[in-house]
Amino acid sequence: MCSSCFAIPSVTIKLLTTAAALIYGQRSFTTNSNKWTRWITFAITVVISLILSAIGVFLLVLSVNPDFRKRNFVNLCVGQNLKGSPLDVHRCFVLEQGNVTGKVMEFGPGPGTNFKCFQNMTSAASIEKYVAVEPNSYFEEKIEEERKARGLEFPLEFVGIKGENVDIPEQGIYDVVVLTHVLCSVDSAEVVLANAEKALKPGGRLIVLEHVLASEGSALFHIQRQMVAPVLNIVGNGCKFLDLHRALEDFLGDRFDLDITKFEAPVPSFMFFARPHIKGIAVKDTLKLRNDHSPKSLQHCQQH
Ligand SMILES: C[S@@+](CC[C@H](N)C(=O)[O-])C[C@H]1O[C@@H](n2cnc3c(N)ncnc32)[C@H](O)[C@@H]1O
Ligand SMILES: *[C@@H]1O[C@H](CO)[C@@H](O)[C@H](O)[C@H]1NC(C)=O
Ligand SMILES: *[C@@H]1O[C@H](CO)[C@@H](O)[C@H](O)[C@H]1NC(C)=O
Repeated sequence: MCSSCFAIPSVTIKLLTTAAALIYGQRSFTTNSNKWTRWITFAITVVISLILSAIGVFLLVLSVNPDFRKRNFVNLCVGQNLKGSPLDVHRCFVLEQGNVTGKVMEFGPGPGTNFKCFQNMTSAASIEKYVAVEPNSYFEEKIEEERKARGLEFPLEFVGIKGENVDIPEQGIYDVVVLTHVLCSVDSAEVVLANAEKALKPGGRLIVLEHVLASEGSALFHIQRQMVAPVLNIVGNGCKFLDLHRALEDFLGDRFDLDITKFEAPVPSFMFFARPHIKGIAVKDTLKLRNDHSPKSLQHCQQH
């Protein structure tokens, strides 16, 4: 899985060659201009090239150093998520809809981004236990701080492993499983969903909020795949674009009641590529469970 960590990422190569081409190329454009025009063009080109090179080297450092990448990601998350964002309306709506009570398991909670929604939610007062499955151990302290800062009293159990690796007893005991902005960065969405299903008791609710792959063939679809994916994979700690709506329908559709909708998320304009989102609830259906089917495989969840 980590073989690519030691290769120079192709974005770095692209950025460095662009920088070199700019410096080299600007000479041929300006040979006939006067001295000052030449100097100003040269200065601007050098600045742009330096910026591109710096970004390239930063991405290189991130990609060869998983530990630095993890810490960098924690700071990025804590800064961005805890500040509050227009997406919180959707986030808190879907958590409200899912009636977060009783025993709760969250996969990839990061710094506890969802806790701000629990602050004023009456159901959250009856959370008995909150299990946070989060492989990035740099988040352990942050999430505990966030719980206290939001005045939440429930016992928080931090499990510092990947969602694919949690050992879940056969009999589901959880009322709620929370998945927000996490399926894009797991190794296998299929295994994480299977664990979520196992963890839930009949009637239990899976709460989902994710950014997804744009509609196939759209301009954004191509931009996501060609331009954003390589950078996001490094900066976003392994995040990729997936057709999660189809994946949820294919994988859980015959055993869950799905109420999942697509929407355009209010993200900052530089994050335009992350606008396509899904949100909603999947309820583990006791009746559907009786004619138990074996899970289908998740064809739509391959990396794009
Ligand atoms: C984009 S952050 C989202 C954090 C938070 N859930 C939110 O809604 O803002 C993704 C989180 O998933 C975690 N993660 C990555 N791979 C994972 C895996 N295999 N299982 C569980 N969590 C994972 C990351 O460490 C990170 O904290
Ligand atoms: C939420 O869950 C609790 C505990 O299971 C239940 O008593 C309550 O009626 C539920 N509320 C809604 C709105 O479904
Ligand atoms: C929760 O309520 C407090 C006090 O009423 C308010 O200051 C805070 O902004 C609310 N938080 C959210 C996330 O709505």
